[in-house]
Amino acid sequence: MSVGIDDISFYSSGMFLPLATLAEHNGEDPDKYRIGLGQERMGVPAQDEDIVTLAANAARPLINSDNRENITTVLFATESSIDQSKAAGVYVQRLLGLGSNCRIVELKQACYSATAALQMACGLVARKPESQVLVLASDIARYGFDTPGEATQGCGAIAFIVKANPRLLAVHAETGCYSEDVMDFWRPNYMDTALVDGKYSTIIYLKALRQSWKNYHEAGGLDFGDFSRFCYHLPFTKMGEKAHRKLAVTNGVSMDVELLEKQIGSGLLYNRQIGNSYSASLYIGLLSLLENDQEDLSGQNVGLFSYGSGCVGEFFSVTVQPGYKQYSRRVQHVDMLETRQELDYEGYASLFSHTCPKDGGEHYFPSEAAGHYRLAGIHDHKRIYTETGD
Ligand code: COA
Repeated sequence: MSVGIDDISFYSSGMFLPLATLAEHNGEDPDKYRIGLGQERMGVPAQDEDIVTLAANAARPLINSDNRENITTVLFATESSIDQSKAAGVYVQRLLGLGSNCRIVELKQACYSATAALQMACGLVARKPESQVLVLASDIARYGFDTPGEATQGCGAIAFIVKANPRLLAVHAETGCYSEDVMDFWRPNYMDTALVDGKYSTIIYLKALRQSWKNYHEAGGLDFGDFSRFCYHLPFTKMGEKAHRKLAVTNGVSMDVELLEKQIGSGLLYNRQIGNSYSASLYIGLLSLLENDQEDLSGQNVGLFSYGSGCVGEFFSVTVQPGYKQYSRRVQHVDMLETRQELDYEGYASLFSHTCPKDGGEHYFPSEAAGHYRLAGIHDHKRIYTETGD
């Protein structure tokens, strides 16, 4: 029996800022963002969107009358948590109409936690093969205006179902981890934006990659040459290129532009359009690979590196299942990205400076969200989620 990802979908907000607009405002060369960071657009959440609505919108296409009652666990990975106590997944359970015989929990470790969720889900399914686990990862990346990280903001959510004998990806048991107590990126409870030592974070990322790869290999994992494609955590897509070049050098493989494009190019497309989505970013990249690669990847191995500042890294691998293409939602995902509303700088600044009020008062938000679910307001300290009918 294999265990892995049976179905997968993603969602980002209905509004975006072109990074060329941000470059013009910040007095930067647009090529710094387009080429230097590898980013074109940044997803900007509406006032009535948060990690719950993004995740519920991502998961909605995956839920049907066949699996609604069979999902026994919901794991919600995020580093933009909305509550210190209640798991965001409990709201999603109600919005999606999932059965009540279900365990739900939230996981945190910067951008890494969705990988912990995936590994836990595989363990649960291996122990009870008839069960299905819904993994959600949803984040809004905020660094603040006029910070070096500003151009790498964004938002997005991924949802996938982990099952026995999956239709899309079988996850291998071998895995390699690396953890170290470092302060490259963190967000104290009293702050809405992350604190980051950006250059240091890229150095630690690459160190964690080397060490995780070594540990993966020691655990009996595949060789570099056994993989046809690689996906990396993508705080900005250029980071994936840097990581892949580093892994190639580590393995004595010479990496030219053509091989780089073949091995990671199709996995960068969605992230380039939405920006950083923290915990979701590796998996939105994986989805981008499955939906956009021109080759039939059936039977081929994909290597994945997950990184969360602070830090935890994990290298693991999957095999693409024959027939995976027939379950693609590419048309819907591309349509979602292409029908987003473009913002000017003032529109972005106004939306991004909106953070959920903390005064304990009554708040109702304008109806802006493009998806099926929205955060209508806050009443009596409780978030009120509604359906838009779209
Ligand atoms: N044309 C093409 N490339 C250009 C350019 C231009 N006109 N101007 C600059 N660049 C390149 C730089 O050479 C650099 O490339 P390199 O890293 O390959 O050398 C890249 O664009 C970024 O420029 P840099 O000056 O280093 O940017 P920065 O100091 O503004 O910050 C980060 C970059 C990533 C540190 C910053 O965006 C950040 O802190 N991000 C958040 C943290 C993060 O994402 N960490 C990643 C690990 S989780």
